[in-house]
Amino acid sequence: ERVVLAYSGGLDTSVAIPFLAEKMDAEVIAVAVDLGQGGEDMDVIRKRALDCGAAESVVVDAKEEFAADFCVPALRANALYMDRYPLVSSLSRPLIVRHLVAAAERFGGTVVSHGCTGKGNDQVRFEAGLAALAPGLRVVAPARDFAWTRDKAIEFAEDKGLPIETTKSNPFSIDQNLWGRAIETGFLEDIWNGPTEDVYAYTADPAAPREPDEVVITFDQGVPVALDGRPLTPYQVIDELNRRAGAQGVGRVDLVEDRLVGIKSREVYEAPGAVALITAHMELENVTVERDLARFKRGVDQRWSELVYDGLWFSPLKDALDAFVADAQKHVSGDVRMTLHGGRATVTGRRSGQSLYDFSLATYDTGDSFDQSLARGFVQLFSLPAKIAAARDARHG
Ligand code: ARG
Ligand code: SIN
Repeated sequence: ERVVLAYSGGLDTSVAIPFLAEKMDAEVIAVAVDLGQGGEDMDVIRKRALDCGAAESVVVDAKEEFAADFCVPALRANALYMDRYPLVSSLSRPLIVRHLVAAAERFGGTVVSHGCTGKGNDQVRFEAGLAALAPGLRVVAPARDFAWTRDKAIEFAEDKGLPIETTKSNPFSIDQNLWGRAIETGFLEDIWNGPTEDVYAYTADPAAPREPDEVVITFDQGVPVALDGRPLTPYQVIDELNRRAGAQGVGRVDLVEDRLVGIKSREVYEAPGAVALITAHMELENVTVERDLARFKRGVDQRWSELVYDGLWFSPLKDALDAFVADAQKHVSGDVRMTLHGGRATVTGRRSGQSLYDFSLATYDTGDSFDQSLARGFVQLFSLPAKIAAARDARHG
């Protein structure tokens, strides 16, 4: 039997290779997906899987795919779970699932495996995705299904002489990709403890003195297509903003969040590119999207974020909300200028050929075309229901 393993190169999935091979008498196919996780050498990861005993080890370059098919839809939905978390890990799981299924077909795998515990969201995202895309594949999750602890994993790795020295000493569980970085466990499990500077890798200390950076982001129907007038792919836009906004300390989030399984957990995130882009995109929507559509979309954006957080990327409601969001992006084209500084991305200007901002309606100076005489009657009729109700309540004490 062949088991296709979602391989990260970290301790848990490295140990899973000999463990699965032994326990299931199977050949393990390690699949590492390159999602633009900075600072990791994918070739080292590929070889590590072979050193741990994998029969095959493949690295899939999914950077552009992740940017275009997952980060961009999240941006168009201004996706922030609990109004703050830009869905970094939640976005990557459905894409990893896509490539696990492709590898299972290519290598004749019948079982899929991942390193998630039974306490988290990621198991749900993997398995809900598999249920939708390849319901015939069986799933085994060693950390969950065989009750693995970190200590047991390290002991097993030492017994087998596995090359995991680099990952053993890190007290944190880290998940990172192009859209951001998530850090949990260790001393952060005490939610009174503040994150120390060494927790962060994508962002510099926001309080450090430095010159501000100004950037102009161009959108076409909600898709970022250029920085400072230079045409770029979505991947290139996000990558460059990770560096520029990261250098200014933009996008740090310290959040106690509600997991799908009912646990509250503390996670620290850094998502400089994502936070800068969402801030810019929201502002361009303010300028180009009609009021009622914009108000309704806020609810859609929130529901979209919850669905994706909860692992239902491949689901009918998500598809229908995507269609709504796509329609609402028809006019979201134009430029947003921002200053990146002191941990913040601040919009300082916006312009668009699709703008609904009408100077002659908004101005208080000469050139005003707004007919103020219409306002008196409008206000009276608009407030009529509340006025009648207030009179009724006054009568009945
Ligand atoms: N809590 C985040 C989520 O559910 C991140 C999960 C993975 N985080 C980690 N540090 N391993 O999307
Ligand atoms: C895990 O428990 O495997 C990681 C965290 C999560 O899935 O939420």
